Amino acid sequence: MQDKRITLAWTGASGAPYGLRLLECLLAADYQVYLLISSAARVVLATEHGLKLPSGPDAAKQALIAHLNCDASKLDVCGKEDWFSPVASGSAAPKKMVVCPCSAGTLASVAHGMSDNLLERAADVVLKERGQLLMVVRETPFSTLHLENMLKLSKMGVTIMPAAPGFYHQPESIEDLVDFMVARILDHLGVEQGLVPRWGYDQR
Ligand SMILES: Cc1cc2nc3c(=O)[nH]c(=O)nc-3n(C[C@H](O)[C@H](O)[C@H](O)COP(=O)(O)O)c2cc1C
Repeated sequence: MQDKRITLAWTGASGAPYGLRLLECLLAADYQVYLLISSAARVVLATEHGLKLPSGPDAAKQALIAHLNCDASKLDVCGKEDWFSPVASGSAAPKKMVVCPCSAGTLASVAHGMSDNLLERAADVVLKERGQLLMVVRETPFSTLHLENMLKLSKMGVTIMPAAPGFYHQPESIEDLVDFMVARILDHLGVEQGLVPRWGYDQR
């Protein structure tokens, strides 16, 4: 049977709307989502989306449920040091994890196996269990260090997906650009989606 569980991490890179939309789509596709939110991600979410999440995981979950109007049973917001969360152990963690948006800082921590908080530990678990890890990195320009960290992780099987939406679907809104990225992420996860027209099918 298909494991419809996934770990989603929001970090403090620009691109909070990608993370929010991805969460909305995964919940709509009936996935159980373990959500990890870094402190910087909260600042970015408030700055870019005007959504101020309360600091505790339970209160943050309630705020997100109200904001997205989604099923509470499918969302599990994990605390930074909730070491007893399923995502902290290879014996229970979902096999798929997405870091979206992914900051250069979290990229470096994961590349070096820091496991200093639950978010970094969850990524480390997916790596050691040879699961599927997607990192939607956002920074510009990239330093040599950023590029080396991405190469290192890519060689370990991580999918590096820079937050770089295309324009060939003729976006008319920011939402169209966000959906372009989210559609590519969902495709890689094997989650059915119809957010944007597919190349070669709908354009002819
Ligand atoms: C509004 C805002 C936008 C930011 N944009 C980026 C970004 O695009 N990429 C990045 O690597 N860091 C960005 N940062 C800096 C990170 O948030 C910072 O390095 C933080 O320590 C990352 O921590 P985290 O990886 O634990 O979330 C931004 C910070 C703020 C407040």
